[in-house]
Amino acid sequence: MHIDIISTVPDLLSSPLSHSIMQRAQDKGLLTVQVHDLRPYGLGKHNSVDDYQFGGGAGMVMRCEPLAALIDELRAQRTYDEIIYLTPDGERYAQRRANRLSLLGNLLLICGHYKGIDERIREEYVTLEISIGDYVLSGGELAAAVVVDSIGRLLPGVIGDETSALTDTFQDDLLAPPVYTRPAEWRGRAVPEILLSGNTAAIETWREARAEERTAARRPDLLPPDV
Ligand code: ADE
Repeated sequence: MHIDIISTVPDLLSSPLSHSIMQRAQDKGLLTVQVHDLRPYGLGKHNSVDDYQFGGGAGMVMRCEPLAALIDELRAQRTYDEIIYLTPDGERYAQRRANRLSLLGNLLLICGHYKGIDERIREEYVTLEISIGDYVLSGGELAAAVVVDSIGRLLPGVIGDETSALTDTFQDDLLAPPVYTRPAEWRGRAVPEILLSGNTAAIETWREARAEERTAARRPDLLPPDV
C-alpha cells in the first residue's frame, strides 16, 4: 500500500510514522508513506496557503490553488482509490472503516488547518471525509497519523502474529478481555485461576464472557439490540 499525505506541518507526522510497527511495515516494503509539504505550493513571496473567509468570521481558510497544484501533481503520478480529507465534520472513523481501507492500494490524505480547506477542493477532489472523534484538533496531522497507523497494522505480514490484529478490541464489536503476564501474583492480586489451567477451550469461554461483560458495562452501544 502507498499513502501520500499533504500537510503544512510535515514535521508533525515524521515521528509517529517512524516507530515500531509503522517503521516495520515500511522496512518490510508493505507500506510506503510520503509526506508532501504544501508550503512550496503557496502563493506570492510568502508562499501563502490560506486567506480570510468570504462572508467574514474568525479563522483562515486554506486556499484552493496551492492544494489543487499539489493534488494534480500527485494524481499525475498515481491513481488513488480514495482521496481523504481529515476533518471534524467528516464521517466518524471506526475499525470497520480501517479494515476496508487496509484492502486498498493508493490513498491520498489531506490535512487541514485553521478553519479548514475551501469547500470547492472538497467538491472537486475529496472522495471520503473522516473525523477521528468529536473534538477539534489544531490540524489534521494527528488524525492522519491515527488513520495510517490503524490501517498499517492491518496489512498482512506487518504484525508478527497474524491472528493478533483479529483479536483486537472492536474487531468483533466487543471490547477486549483483561490480559495478564508474569508474575502470577502481584501485590496480593492473583491472575484468574482459569488462565493458568492450560484448558484452552475453558480459557476461550472465559475470555468471551469477560469481553461481553466489559462491553455491556462500558460500551453498551456496541452490543446488538435485544430482540
Ligand atoms: N482535524 C481537526 N479535528 C479533527 C478530527 N477530530 N478528526 C479529523 N480531522 C480533524
